[in-house]
Amino acid sequence: KGVQDDSIDVTSLDAHPASDQKIWEDSQIRKGKLHTQQTAHSSKYPILFDALDFDLPAKLQGLPHLPQRSFAQQRIAKRKEERERIQEERRSLPMYAHRDALIKAIKQYQVVIVQSETGSGKTTQIPQYLIEEGFGSVVCTQPRRVAAMSVAARVAYEMGVKLGNEVGYSIRFEDCTSDQTVIKYVTDGMLLREFLSEPDLKAYDVILIDEAHERSMSTDIVMGLIKDISRFRGDDVRVIISSATMDTEKFSSYFDDAPIYSVPGRRYDVDIYYTKTPEPDYVEASCVSVLQIHASQPAGDILVFLTGQEEIEAAEEILRERTRGLGSKLGELIIAPIYATLPSEMQAKIFEPTPEGARKVVLATNIAETSVTIPGIVYVIDPGFCKQKSYNAKTGMESLLVVPVSRAGAKQRAGRAGRTQPGKCFRLYTKWSYMNEMEEDTVPELLRTNLSQVVLLLLSLGIDNLIDFDFIDAPPPEALLRSLEHLYALGALNDKGKLTKLGRRMAELPLEPMMAKALLASEKYKCSEEVTVICSMLSVNNAVFYRPKQKKMMADAARAAFARGGGGDHMTLLRCYAQWRDAGFSTQWCYEHFVQTRTMKRARDVYEQLDALLERVEIDRHSVGTGDKVPILKALTAGFFYNACRLQKNGHYRTLKNPHTVRIHPSSCFANAEIRPRWLIYHELVFTTKEFMRQVFEIEGNWLHEAAPHFHKAEDVLEESKRKMPKVLGKAGGKVR
Ligand code: CDP
Ligand code: MG
Repeated sequence: KGVQDDSIDVTSLDAHPASDQKIWEDSQIRKGKLHTQQTAHSSKYPILFDALDFDLPAKLQGLPHLPQRSFAQQRIAKRKEERERIQEERRSLPMYAHRDALIKAIKQYQVVIVQSETGSGKTTQIPQYLIEEGFGSVVCTQPRRVAAMSVAARVAYEMGVKLGNEVGYSIRFEDCTSDQTVIKYVTDGMLLREFLSEPDLKAYDVILIDEAHERSMSTDIVMGLIKDISRFRGDDVRVIISSATMDTEKFSSYFDDAPIYSVPGRRYDVDIYYTKTPEPDYVEASCVSVLQIHASQPAGDILVFLTGQEEIEAAEEILRERTRGLGSKLGELIIAPIYATLPSEMQAKIFEPTPEGARKVVLATNIAETSVTIPGIVYVIDPGFCKQKSYNAKTGMESLLVVPVSRAGAKQRAGRAGRTQPGKCFRLYTKWSYMNEMEEDTVPELLRTNLSQVVLLLLSLGIDNLIDFDFIDAPPPEALLRSLEHLYALGALNDKGKLTKLGRRMAELPLEPMMAKALLASEKYKCSEEVTVICSMLSVNNAVFYRPKQKKMMADAARAAFARGGGGDHMTLLRCYAQWRDAGFSTQWCYEHFVQTRTMKRARDVYEQLDALLERVEIDRHSVGTGDKVPILKALTAGFFYNACRLQKNGHYRTLKNPHTVRIHPSSCFANAEIRPRWLIYHELVFTTKEFMRQVFEIEGNWLHEAAPHFHKAEDVLEESKRKMPKVLGKAGGKVR
């Protein structure tokens, strides 16, 4: 049966044992009955004493006398044991049986496609095999930074070396490699940037494009560029394209009929259950399902797919609340979140073995679909949604949307349950929606994204004729055209479509073009220091402030204090960072101001990296301090003028270009403002129930014309000082998930 859904009967739900039905029909937990079912603690202590073995010396007498070993000897023996265990584990992976054949294929062909189930050893093993076989250096791409870091750590551990030496990783703003590094895990975006400094990637003997099935934008572009270099580097380079899904034909034909090497994986049957009616609140429904599985199902960990950090935190809170005090009755429920921006030391929790009697529930984003393998999962809960970037080429608007996953995605998710034993997948949607409302495959990112950054990069690599670039799936021509227009408005291109000096400098910064432009413009406004800080704070996205449940008021007050002085969310972030810096980067300060220390530390790392980059692109460092906000906001406007909008009578905003209504996100400092600024520029749009602007700053209309004279005509952005500013009281905007 397995994950092949075609064989699943709609009525399979009813055909299952009573315990299964319970999960879906008996809503004990929903009604809160489980709380009351707890029995009072009976005094078990005397029995517990019986279990202790007091006669230990007698037992020990029977043991053979062991020769005394020094601590060093013991340590060495222990390490040897550990190494043997690791090698044993490595040999047990499905990939191992095909090791020699695979190496042979790689030696014979320049491009090889490898396909196998998630968890069979593609990412961690193939690079090691290659090094063992005498290849000099291997680079392996990952679409996600978390995966790059965790896999590098795993491989370093397996090889018994320090992470950053022989095995390392490189992700944006963080390089953990050295001269000795022979296996390097990188995000696909980082490899893309490496083409800028080394157009033929000479440093690598083998390039492994991992998770190619995800079809991330950078992976697609990297494949295009690699196809090109593999032609002229000839025998000097080997390319492996790896995929966790079966549809590898496309890759094969793209790479001139490259051979496909399929490794059968270990896979157990997964029973699939659907809900009978659609679930209106899938976070709540997921939590209910987790508790019901915990209460009624045999041992085995649970994996829940949610769309992002906010949902994961909400689910975590619900689960903690409802399991409080249930421990003795049900066994511990260990909650382990994982999402891209979670600090790596906290991610480690998902890989820790679950203690006997306990159950682990991993709350994950799409990251757990294929790129991170979590051992011990038996139950999967799939609400059927993920967060996806979506781009409207007509309006040039990009936003993050929560969208239904594809059937291919749903199958991958279900497959996570059958890795070590037969499993169960609970889909929080109906069989009908699965068949009728979901797409067969996920649309490649390149076809639904703002291409400005990629176009800028390709142009700076000297690829001028984008229409003829060999894309695996070509983006719509209007999206290419849009991004050319956008780059022209930013001043990165001249009217002949050629890169300007500014454009060249923008391409050197690992930032999206708007941010790069703002940073470069900060030179003119003598505030590069402040814009660098803002850029760093924006890059750690939405995780700066926290709001403990019991201290919401105090947390809000602390945050409001940073907003004082005006300007908007960007200035709020700047003041927050500046005060933390003035407090000597103190942890205590963070604690007192309801600011996440870890996030701030990350922002500081990013700041240092960016600061070093400023030197490379020769931006003079200047500071205006946090008091003088006009130059800072003008520099930001120079980059983000495209995202300008104007206040409407109804208290919402209307974008200037491709007019449509947008609202201020409830997390913004302007969300509850009594008087709203007439003009705003947003950093990004998120679509939940409505279209929200997340992180906004206040501007004057005429700055827009100053920043981009041909884009914002003077007459369109005149300050209409005679018109009364509408006064808006209270909140505007809908419920946010
Ligand atoms: O790439 P693929 O999905 O084929 O497999 P992999 O990531 O190389 O994983 C191979 C094995 O290593 C899996 O069974 C994982 O359980 C284990 N692994 C791990 O323990 N810790 C990691 N960070 C990554 C993998
Ligand atoms: Mg992998």
